[in-house]
Amino acid sequence: MAILNWNEKMLIGQKAIDEDHEKIANLMNEFHEKQDCDNGFIGSILQKLFDYIDSHFHAEERILKLIKYEGLENHTKEHEKIISKVKDYREKCEMGQISKEQVLDLMSSITIRHFLKEDMKFKEALTNRKA
Ligand SMILES: [Fe+2]
Ligand SMILES: [Fe+2]
Repeated sequence: MAILNWNEKMLIGQKAIDEDHEKIANLMNEFHEKQDCDNGFIGSILQKLFDYIDSHFHAEERILKLIKYEGLENHTKEHEKIISKVKDYREKCEMGQISKEQVLDLMSSITIRHFLKEDMKFKEALTNRKA
């Protein structure tokens, strides 16, 4: 069963951002469903997660800068916290110190807490900008 069923209520209304969010939610769901994950596999998921969020956060920050989003500074700080957490997990994984559950918890916090709460805060600013 998927951890998060992506649906239209979760959309921000900006195609590139929404596609990235959905892609990362799918990565989490697929990882959740995968049986017998060894440490090497967990490491590959963490690397993919890092690549996805690193490029997503940069793209998102560029858009927020363009619309002069007033919460940009705080939002960028939230992104930095997530990036350093993923890097930390990636290092710990190399030493065999990270479990699948811990990675899933981190992914849930990125998708449910960040995408659906923090990112939702700029939905209105984006909509007004387009109007
Ligand atoms: Fe985002
Ligand atoms: Fe964000």
